[in-house]
Amino acid sequence: MASKEHGIKALNQEFNKYEQVNKEQTYHLAEHEDEDQFDYDFEIKTCDIRQYFEGGEEGKIRFSQELGKALKEIGFAIITGHGVDPQLYRDAKDKVTELFVTTSVEERMKYLAKRHGSVNQGYFPIKETTIIHPDLVEGWVFCRRAFNMDQRDDFKEEDYWPREGFEKFFRSIVLEHEKLILPIMQSALRFLGCDPHLYDKKFTGTNFGFRLNYYPPITNEDAKSGAGRMLGHEDVDFFTILPSQDVDGLQVLNRQNMKWIKLDPPEGSIILNTGDYMQRISNDIYPSTTHRVSKPSSKAMFGKPRITIPMAIYTWEQEILEVLSCCGEPKYEPIDSETFHTRITSKYYGDDYVNKTD
Ligand SMILES: [Fe+2]
Repeated sequence: MASKEHGIKALNQEFNKYEQVNKEQTYHLAEHEDEDQFDYDFEIKTCDIRQYFEGGEEGKIRFSQELGKALKEIGFAIITGHGVDPQLYRDAKDKVTELFVTTSVEERMKYLAKRHGSVNQGYFPIKETTIIHPDLVEGWVFCRRAFNMDQRDDFKEEDYWPREGFEKFFRSIVLEHEKLILPIMQSALRFLGCDPHLYDKKFTGTNFGFRLNYYPPITNEDAKSGAGRMLGHEDVDFFTILPSQDVDGLQVLNRQNMKWIKLDPPEGSIILNTGDYMQRISNDIYPSTTHRVSKPSSKAMFGKPRITIPMAIYTWEQEILEVLSCCGEPKYEPIDSETFHTRITSKYYGDDYVNKTD
């Protein structure tokens, strides 16, 4: 079943046994240009997080209402007013290109992804992001331990990064995004009617997966093969912080009408979406929303690489995921983060993934 050739035709529901939250939506993992329908009316809401930072108690309440409503409705929001210098994102694009273009595949293969606790960390060659679908992307995942952020004596840059200087540069982005984690979580919890500070401790110094994605230019052969840039999927996290990018392609599945929404947010903004962990603890109130990366809408853009730097927010392995007491009768049992995470990702990395340890 889990062959990549099959993946071009597969439906998500064929892999349902791996899911740790309810997912009733049925969709093709790959794009089907002749069958897919698009939703040109739905607008993903923009939420200005300056209200949280500068608007006092009233601002915090207003932001939580706006954000919570957007996440509950579609699982996606555009965040503006976050204070991250857009130049940092422009520089990131050059740095990612440098990382993937100036190193050889052999050099990168030394860092081939392997499981560290919950997260598969390291390099993913092209078409090998998962075992079920030949995605046209090279990726590289860096967890918290790949950054020199916690004054660890044993930290060695070369254990994680192929060249000097990358760690320092990308650490500056991770630190900026880290400042947004508590405000986002507090606002999401406040909207649900929970204590907004319930996750403050768990999310202080928490783990994450910071991913560098390099989607190379699309060749004629790729365009005909049926492979997409990234298969339809839901994120396995609480939420993902994704700076907008200049090559379009991100599409979000609207479960109300099963049409795809094309997202093209303004430069400098952040796309925020909820994932499986959040759906689990919120008892399905915040959905883990299906999305994918398609080829650009204009063929003129096929020759350009697409670069993204999503940061997925996790709890550490031993933390228990429990349905929040403000979210009604629990549909889910408590589960530790590592079991939860590895059971889902066995879909992408194989049935034995759950048993692999570092
Ligand atoms: Fe994603």
